[in-house]
Amino acid sequence: MKVPILRLPITEEDAQVLGERFKSVLLSGSLTMGPQTRRFEEMFAQFSGAKHAISNASGTASLELIIRALGIQQRSIIVPTNTFAATAYAVVNTKNRVIFADSDPNTLCLDPEDVARRIEDDTAAVILVHIGGVITPAVEKLKRLCEERNLALIEDCAHAHGCSLNGAPAGTIGCAGAFSFFPTKTLTTGEGGMVVTNSDEIAEKVKIFRNHGKNPALRNKMSEPGNNYRISELTAAFGVWQMEKAEGWISQRQEIAAFYDQNIAGVAGVQPLKLPKGMVSSYYKYIAFLDEDLDRDRLKKLMQERYEVSLTGEVYADLCHTEPVWQGYTYCGMHRDGGTAVRHGWEGCTCDHPAGDFPGAAFVARRHICLPLYPDMTVEECRHVLDSLSKSIQEIRGNT
Ligand SMILES: Cc1ncc(COP(=O)(O)O)c(C=O)c1O
Repeated sequence: MKVPILRLPITEEDAQVLGERFKSVLLSGSLTMGPQTRRFEEMFAQFSGAKHAISNASGTASLELIIRALGIQQRSIIVPTNTFAATAYAVVNTKNRVIFADSDPNTLCLDPEDVARRIEDDTAAVILVHIGGVITPAVEKLKRLCEERNLALIEDCAHAHGCSLNGAPAGTIGCAGAFSFFPTKTLTTGEGGMVVTNSDEIAEKVKIFRNHGKNPALRNKMSEPGNNYRISELTAAFGVWQMEKAEGWISQRQEIAAFYDQNIAGVAGVQPLKLPKGMVSSYYKYIAFLDEDLDRDRLKKLMQERYEVSLTGEVYADLCHTEPVWQGYTYCGMHRDGGTAVRHGWEGCTCDHPAGDFPGAAFVARRHICLPLYPDMTVEECRHVLDSLSKSIQEIRGNT
């Protein structure tokens, strides 16, 4: 039985329905910033429990829009090294510098103690990424730290559609949240993003920056150098359809996760990530940790070749700061002065933090796996995933 990394939950009939909707958009004469966009935003605001939802080009654009709306420029922003590169790119793209910080291996998310250690005089914000859809209970500590040190707390919610902690939805905990609708995400529009916020001021500014800097208060005269980060009405129509499906898909994801939870205990060598108390997850990822002796690459290869089961991409196997793109920077985001490019370690960094100073994130990167999880997975497929995981581990350990 073949279990792929991902199967988009779009059937032949769905494609017909969408085709009809796209046709009526095309015939409506309104191709951007029209009724579909407004409807998508209203529906997403309601879904995410935020006062405002502003659609835009991507998750990366959403982060950039938030940083710009906060007026942060030529400052430093703290970002976990355990994230996708785009979190850090948004910082650089808005003319700021990145300070990488460590993560708590129990939650995969930012460790507030490490964040506190890395704050510098020019630090303006912290971006908390809800990795794999996990909202860390340390968010309260981070919030307090940010309040005390006058820092904005921005949420990268690319993995956290429909997630909440103690009733607080992702994106409403800090000053604003950035969602992505990339195809692998819990909800997708092919490409796209959404900023959510309860702040009227941030919402107004995000709308201005998204639309070339056109300012409605000045009868659309341009008050800021903005971007074209809008989405088309076709994308928005796709988004509206996704919102109609969201609840059903998320409960299917939760059922699959519950099946894994109930049955993974029988697999020796693997411990599932325990979600924090009070958390509701939409399970962008189902995360588990491997025992130290197990080699993840070998395990994945075996599962694929022997059982046709594809484990999904990790979050993340390669920490952000180890990517070659950052070789021209120090850990604290300073440009290197033509210094030697070192893949790991960043020797010669002028900041205080030694190389290899991300033990929590390094543990996560080395030890975790993500089981396939998507709405229409069958119980047989889930069982096959766990069976093949168990058999592959036994084979690696020489027990077969
Ligand atoms: C944590 C995280 N942040 C930001 C992004 C960027 O989203 P997009 O690809 O829509 O720009 C992604 C996308 O993969 C992500 O996983």
